[in-house]
Amino acid sequence: MTDSVSSPSRPRAAVILAAGQGTRMKSPTPKVLHKVAGRTLLDLAIDAAEGLNCQRIVVVVGAHSPQVGESARKRLGPNATVIQDPPLGTGHAVLAARDSLADFEGDVVVTYADCPLTTAGVIAPLFDLIAGGTDVAVLGFEAANPTGYGRLILAPGHVLLRIVEEKDADLATQQVRHCNSGVLAADRATLFSLLADVRNDNSKGEYYLTDVVGLAHDRKLSTRAAFAPEPSVQGVNSQAELAAAEAVWQKSRRNALMTEGVTMPAPETVHLSWDTKIAAGTVVEPFVVFGPGVSVDTGAVIKAFSHLEGAAVGEGALIGPYARLRPGAEIGPEAHIGNFVEVKKVKVGKGAKANHLSYLGDGSIGEKANIGAGTIFCNYDGFEKFETHVGKGAFIGSNSALVAPVRIGDGAMTGSGSVITKDVEDGALALTRPEQQIKAGWATKFRALKQAAKDRKKDKQ
Ligand code: UD1
Ligand code: MG
Repeated sequence: MTDSVSSPSRPRAAVILAAGQGTRMKSPTPKVLHKVAGRTLLDLAIDAAEGLNCQRIVVVVGAHSPQVGESARKRLGPNATVIQDPPLGTGHAVLAARDSLADFEGDVVVTYADCPLTTAGVIAPLFDLIAGGTDVAVLGFEAANPTGYGRLILAPGHVLLRIVEEKDADLATQQVRHCNSGVLAADRATLFSLLADVRNDNSKGEYYLTDVVGLAHDRKLSTRAAFAPEPSVQGVNSQAELAAAEAVWQKSRRNALMTEGVTMPAPETVHLSWDTKIAAGTVVEPFVVFGPGVSVDTGAVIKAFSHLEGAAVGEGALIGPYARLRPGAEIGPEAHIGNFVEVKKVKVGKGAKANHLSYLGDGSIGEKANIGAGTIFCNYDGFEKFETHVGKGAFIGSNSALVAPVRIGDGAMTGSGSVITKDVEDGALALTRPEQQIKAGWATKFRALKQAAKDRKKDKQ
């Protein structure tokens, strides 16, 4: 889910700070490569910058986690990162981007890579302030508990005098509930000129980005704050905060989908991904998980306990309960994929049915074909994958093993329990099981003999 805002009047750039160590995550994975809604925190921060139409994006990374830089460059190109080493504070971090933005004329927004809910729409009011003549615009919020945050010292009309960090705040300032989210915007030349004057004579001995506000005010520049709801600017520092951000994201996206006309009887049990597309007029039953890359067309019903990723579900299709759609599953309109059926990289035609206990991997199923319970597409020989194609209106008997590569013709049938290794022509029946034998009275005789033996044994005891 990304939101984008209208085209800017002046060029925009973003500096995304991602040089923190993230030690409180206690994870071998760098903090900003953890995910919310199936997307890394870093990618969500880049989404926000792109949503704001930033034409240049610079990610400031630490020397300690090269994967973060690799991930940013993979998405944005080879010049998208700068290294801050050692990290000497947020102001120092932004200065690391100075050279790469030297030729940029326009406004720069500074964001943090660990704020997954700070979307373009949340940041956009800063650019409105700048368009209205503000020189330095800061995104603030009113904190339920302000401890740990920089405090905004405001004059009437959201005019910002300065920002005081928690550690440098006296008792009266500590009572202030207006806090700094960390997001700040200013014209590029103004921002770097102010940063050049920032000193580290504070209790942390760091170069604070927040000091640019007081410096700007001293230079008689206009400094203002815009305010966002607290959850939208919340940072992630621990696994619990990551889960809390996920919960906020999920709730907000589910509510948006319901507003758009998706029925969810137990929304709190449905898990979505950043790019899940569900059309109006669909039903998503309880405990459904959408991994990345899923789209669901109108009228489809996703029944309880289904797991979908990389799959497209057509209009009016019925999925589950307990179905698993894996990448490349393309389920046609009105098709049925029932309980304990796994579909991977298979195009399922309109109205086709696979209702029970099957593995359907690599291939296609024609319109109105019926796949019996327990059918397996045997797609893998331990080295390579092969395809199975089932024709229109074909009927695959229960417990058939279709050994790929194999093709079942239109309207063809396979007998239950068959192992099909050769193509079956249109309209034919393929059977690979032994003839049935009948031995009249055998079972009755067998039981009588066994019972007599059991009775003799009992008599002896
Ligand atoms: C910062 C703000 C504070 C604000 C708070 C909001 C400053 C001085 N303080 O404080 O006003 O209320 O965020 O959460 O800006 N980073 C670097 N390099 C560094 C230091 C930090 O890239 O040298 C990055 C971190 O990875 C992080 C962000 O900057 O993404 C914020 O750093 P952090 O140390 O958490 O700042 P706070 O002390 O929380
Ligand atoms: Mg912090």
